[in-house]
Amino acid sequence: MTTSWLPGPPTHVPRELIVDFDFFAIPEGVEDPAEIWHGLVRKGVPDIFFTPRNGGHWVFMDYEDIIEAYRDHERFSTHQAVVPPIEPFPDMQPQGVDPPQHNVFRRLLAPLFTPIAVRGMVDELESRTRGLIDKFADKGQCDFIKDFAARLPTGTFLHLMGLPEERLDEFLVISDIFFRSTDEAERKANSERIYAILNNMFDEKAKNPGQDIATHILQGRDEVTGELLPYQDKLDCAFLLFVAGLDTVTNTMAYVWRYLATTPEARHYLRERLDDPDALLRAVEELLRINSVSNLFRRVVHDMEFKGVTMKRNDRVIMPNTIANRDPDVFENPNMIDLERKVNRHVTFGVGPHRCIGSHLAKRELMIAIDYWLRRIPEFELADEMPEHNAFGGTVMGFQSLPMVWKSTVPA
Ligand code: HEM
Repeated sequence: MTTSWLPGPPTHVPRELIVDFDFFAIPEGVEDPAEIWHGLVRKGVPDIFFTPRNGGHWVFMDYEDIIEAYRDHERFSTHQAVVPPIEPFPDMQPQGVDPPQHNVFRRLLAPLFTPIAVRGMVDELESRTRGLIDKFADKGQCDFIKDFAARLPTGTFLHLMGLPEERLDEFLVISDIFFRSTDEAERKANSERIYAILNNMFDEKAKNPGQDIATHILQGRDEVTGELLPYQDKLDCAFLLFVAGLDTVTNTMAYVWRYLATTPEARHYLRERLDDPDALLRAVEELLRINSVSNLFRRVVHDMEFKGVTMKRNDRVIMPNTIANRDPDVFENPNMIDLERKVNRHVTFGVGPHRCIGSHLAKRELMIAIDYWLRRIPEFELADEMPEHNAFGGTVMGFQSLPMVWKSTVPA
């Protein structure tokens, strides 16, 4: 006889707030991982509920509660907040530390990713995009993830950090384990491997400084004392950049292309607006709202009551952005994709002190990719056969593979 066993919920959690929900597990037959979240809404779960899965954690299902948790670092910390808990977990700078400590690395990084700074990356992004698409366009097919969506942000990351391009495949594997593995030993070994790579990278940059982000971080100084920032913090900052800007972009692109491949009207709408950057940006904001891939986490700082619910210090909380972005109290017709939506307060990049530093870069990557793809491959669709067990959940949700086909292309 097999028995399955789950630890009982903590005693402060009332029975009526318990829902058995594993945000990593995608049931057989579910093609879109976001559906596991929207299924909870249809089931009518409480706005705040507790699941015993993945070490036990709360889930916030209401836009206002999610916003509050994002903003209120005195009650909801990012420090050692990962789900399932791994201790010790790297204090990723600046995401994994709270203000005011958080400001040190936030200030170091933010100037590198402003809209103006990102404008300076456009030529590089365009040539990368063209290079990747031109490689497979005339074949009439590709695996959108393996051939394009994983390679564009990872290659961009390697370039920005001044790392050799040959390491791209190695980085893809490491990123996959970081986001998807729930095996504690594997996760630990993977983190050690990432640190070893970053350590070597800094050794190299110390000997041969460049005009790259790794050198900028390595040379970072305290704004007040002028002292060099602690070496471990710099490693943790490079670690964060590695995990923050790869999988998020890849899976957002996967969702967007999956939608375009199945929606001729949307392809047509975007093709007609490729020379209208404002309209294109508005459409991209809506695609980001409806295709929000991250489910962020926080740790409760002290025992408290939040919206009538008793929470204890070190309780974990998950904030599913996809749920916040479809809250009917905030968005008109939330499940409708309106590429001309006027008011769009989506939380795809978070809000508050930790709001995504890379949002302008991510949007630029998306816009450049949409632009060149639709000019070169105006019509395309999903292949008939999708691999089994293709969708995955977790902190960043998405697809392993996305085979696509098309009949014709426009010459480069
Ligand atoms: C579509 C792509 C992306 C999505 C959906 C996304 C999402 C997010 C979210 C939700 C947060 C808030 C984290 C929190 O509150 O705990 C965040 C933070 C962050 N993101 Fe992104 N991100 C994306 C792309 C990027 C890129 C390309 C970079 C590379 C520069 C990046 C760098 C960061 C950094 C450094 C932070 C931490 C900021 C802080 O703690 O002050 N992200 N991102």
